[in-house]
Amino acid sequence: MAEDKKNYKEILEYQDKYVMHTYSPEILLVKGKGSYVWDSANKKYLDFSTGISVCSLGHCHPAVTRAIKEQAGKLVHVSNLYMNEKQPQLAAKLAEKGFDGYAFFANSGAEANEGMIKLARKWGSSKGKFEIIVMEESFHGRTLATLAATGRSKYRVGFAPDMPGFVHVPFNDVSAIEKKISDKTCAVLLEPVQGEGGIIPSRQDYLEKVRELCDKHGILLMFDEVQCGMGRTGTFFAWQGYGVQPDALSMAKALGNGFPIGAFMVRRELGTVLGAGTHASTFGGTPLACAAALAVVDAFDSENILDNCNKQSELLMSGLAKLAKKYKCVKEVRGRGLLIGVVLDRPANDLRKMASSKGLLVLTAGETVLRLLPPLNVSRKEVEEALQILEESLKQLQESQNAK
Ligand SMILES: Cc1ncc(COP(=O)(O)O)c(C=O)c1O
Repeated sequence: MAEDKKNYKEILEYQDKYVMHTYSPEILLVKGKGSYVWDSANKKYLDFSTGISVCSLGHCHPAVTRAIKEQAGKLVHVSNLYMNEKQPQLAAKLAEKGFDGYAFFANSGAEANEGMIKLARKWGSSKGKFEIIVMEESFHGRTLATLAATGRSKYRVGFAPDMPGFVHVPFNDVSAIEKKISDKTCAVLLEPVQGEGGIIPSRQDYLEKVRELCDKHGILLMFDEVQCGMGRTGTFFAWQGYGVQPDALSMAKALGNGFPIGAFMVRRELGTVLGAGTHASTFGGTPLACAAALAVVDAFDSENILDNCNKQSELLMSGLAKLAKKYKCVKEVRGRGLLIGVVLDRPANDLRKMASSKGLLVLTAGETVLRLLPPLNVSRKEVEEALQILEESLKQLQESQNAK
C-alpha cells in the first residue's frame, strides 16, 4: 500500500477509535501555505473556509510564524498575576484600531462571549437587571451560557435546562426588541452579520435604531464580532462598516490567525465593572498568544489587508451574481466584505462536497447557504479560480438534479 494511503488509514483508525465523534471529518490535511492546503495524498485545495474565518491572513503567514517562533523561545506563558510585555501592547493596538477602551483576553469565541455576558450581568446587578435580549438564528458558542444565548435551537437540543436570563427575538426587527425590554433587561447582544445563521447582515437602519433604543432605556449594546470582526466584513471591526459603536464587543477566530486567542473589549466608562478577582482565565493573554495577535494586527497595516478584502469582495460578489443569473438553483448572493453566503433552493452540503472534490474548500451556514470565507489577502487569480470551480460544481449539481 502506498505510504500516503497507509498514513491516512492509520490516522482514520485513531480518529475513529480515540477522538470523540463530535465531528465527522473525511479529509486529512497535512500542510498549508497562503490560500492553499494539501491533504495526505498531496492533493492541493484552495481554502475558502480558512478554518472557519480563522486563517484570514492565509496559512502559515510568515510574520505570524516568525512572531510565534521568536516568542516561543523567549517566554511562552506567565499567569496574569504578572504582567507580560505583549498583552498591554496588543490591548493598545486594538484600541488604536478604533475601539478606545479596555480588553480582557481569553482563548476562544465562547469564552470571550461568556466574559461579555458576565460583564453585562455584573453591570446590571446593582439595579436588579440581568436579562439579555438575543437574536433568533444567532450563534454565540457551545458553553452553557453562550448556548442559551444562541438562537439556533438545534444546538441546544439535549442540554436542557437552558441557562435562564436570555430572551430570543427575531433578527433585524427593532420593534421585537422594544417589546421585550423590561426593568430586568441589562443588554442586547447580536452579531452585526449573522454567520452560522446563514450570512445575514444587519440592515443599516436596524443597527442604528437598536443603538438608539439601548441609549433610551439605558441598557448595554454588545456585539459578537467573533466571526464577522477582524477585517472580515471590510472594516477592522464590523461595527465600523455601519458607524454604530457598541458598548462591548467580542472577538476571537482571526485574531491569532490560527493561534488560539479571544478577547472582549468594553468602552472606557465600563472599565471598572469587572474589578480585581471578578473574572479570570489561566491561559488568557499569554505572551505567546499576544505575540501572534500583534503580528496579525500589524499585518493589517503593513499589507493593506482591508483594501484587498474590499477589492476582492467586489470581484467575488460580481462573479457570484453572474453565476446566480445562470444557475437557477442559486436564489441569492449576500454578505459583506469576504463573509459571503450563496443561498440555494436546496441543501448546500452537496454543492460543498462537489467543490471540495474539485479542489475548493468552502462551508455551509444553515441548511441552504454555501458560505465563502476566503483569506482577506486572497489574490485576484485565486478568486477567479474559486469562481471557476464553483461554476463547474453548480453545473454538476444542476445536471445531477436533471438526471433524477
Ligand atoms: C459569531 C460567533 N460567536 C461565537 C463563536 C464561538 O467561537 P469558538 O468556537 O471559538 O468558541 C462562533 C464560532 O463559530 C461564532 O461564529
